[in-house]
Amino acid sequence: MEVINAELRQWCHELPKVELHAHLNGSIRDSTLLELVKNHGDNGVLISKDVEQMILEKGTSLRKCFELFAVYHVLATDHETVKRITKEAVEDFAADNCIYLELRTTPKKNEAKGMTKRSYMDAVIDGLKEVNTVDVDLYGCELTNKKNGDRRRKKIFVRLLLSINRSEATSSAIGTVNLAMEMKDMGVVGIDLSGDPTVGQWDTILPALEHARKLGLPVTLHCGEVRNSKEIQAMLDFNPQRLGHVCLLAEEDWERLKSLMIPVEICLTSNIMTQTIPLIEYHHFADLYKSKHPLSLCTDDTGLFSTTLSNEYYKAAVSFGLGKEEMFKLAQEAVNFVFANEDVKKHLAQNYEEAKARIL
Ligand code: IMP
Ligand code: ZN
Repeated sequence: MEVINAELRQWCHELPKVELHAHLNGSIRDSTLLELVKNHGDNGVLISKDVEQMILEKGTSLRKCFELFAVYHVLATDHETVKRITKEAVEDFAADNCIYLELRTTPKKNEAKGMTKRSYMDAVIDGLKEVNTVDVDLYGCELTNKKNGDRRRKKIFVRLLLSINRSEATSSAIGTVNLAMEMKDMGVVGIDLSGDPTVGQWDTILPALEHARKLGLPVTLHCGEVRNSKEIQAMLDFNPQRLGHVCLLAEEDWERLKSLMIPVEICLTSNIMTQTIPLIEYHHFADLYKSKHPLSLCTDDTGLFSTTLSNEYYKAAVSFGLGKEEMFKLAQEAVNFVFANEDVKKHLAQNYEEAKARIL
C-alpha cells in the first residue's frame, strides 16, 4: 500500500506549475457534471442513472473515456455552460498553483443552440472574463478587474489551443485553423490534434496541419495512444512543436523521437487509467527523463481522471524517486515549451526565480 507523504504532497501543491496539456471538457468538475445531468433530466437522450454510473466508472479505459466525452458534449454544448466550465477550470488550475495554463478545446457547432465554432470560442473567452478568484492574463492584458484594488492577488496566464478532432473532415479542420488565426490576438496560440485514436486518417488532417504551419501557428499532436506505426512515423515526419503521450512507439520510432528532441507532454495518470501503460513503473517518463529529453508533466483531463497537476508531480516524485530540486527544475523547464511569446516566458522565469528562495 502506498504511504502518503503529506509534506511532499503539500510541497507539490506549492510548487508553481505550468500546464501544457489540458482539455476543457475533460476538466469539468464532477459536481458540475452531476448538476448538468440533473438539469438535463431523463429526456430520452441521456438517462441520469446511466450517466451517474458512467461518471463512477470514468476514465477506466480508453473506450470508456470516449463514451463519456460524447455525454459531456451533449451536456456542455450551450454558450452558458461553456462559459461556466471555462471559468471553473481556470479557477481550479489557479487554486492548484498553476501559473500558466494552455487550455485546449475543440470548437463546436450546435445549430439547435445557435452555436458556431466562433461563438463557442467567444463563450470560452467570456468564461475567462468571469474568473474572479485570480487575475487572468489572456493576451498580454489582464481580463479580470482587481477586486478592491488588491494588487497582491494571484495571477494566471491562460492561452488557448484549438483542437482538431481526428474524426473531422479536412474542410472542417482547415476551418478550425483559420479560426485560430482569426483569434490570434485573443489568446489563441496554437493547434492540437486529438480525439479517439482508433478513428480518423492522418492524410485527412495533414492539409490542415500544413496550413497551420504556413500561417505560423505552433502544433501539438496526440501521438502513440494506440499502436499505429505508420501514423506515428508520419507524425514524426511532420516534426510538430510538441507531442502528447508518445506511449506505444516502436523502438526505431522511439530513437527517432529522441533524436528529434520534440518536447513531450507527459500525462501519467491518464496513461495508467486508460490502461495505455499497464503500470507506472513501466512508464516511458523514466527513460525520457534519464535521457534529458525535453518534457513536461500534464494532467490531460483533471475531471475525467480525478487528478490535479500537483498530483502528477507528486506521482512522478514517488514513482521515479525525484527530489525537490529535480521537481523544481522539471516545472521550471516547462516554460521553454509554452506556445506563448517571449514576454510571457520572461514573466514565468521570474516567477520561478522568486519561488526558488521560498520553497527550495
Ligand atoms: P474538448 O475539446 O474541450 O471538448 O475536450 C474533450 C475532447 O478532448 C475529447 O472529446 C477528445 O477529443 C479530446 N481528448 C481528451 N482527452 C483525450 C485523450 O486522452 N486522447 C485523445 N483525445 C482526448
Ligand atoms: Zn489529451
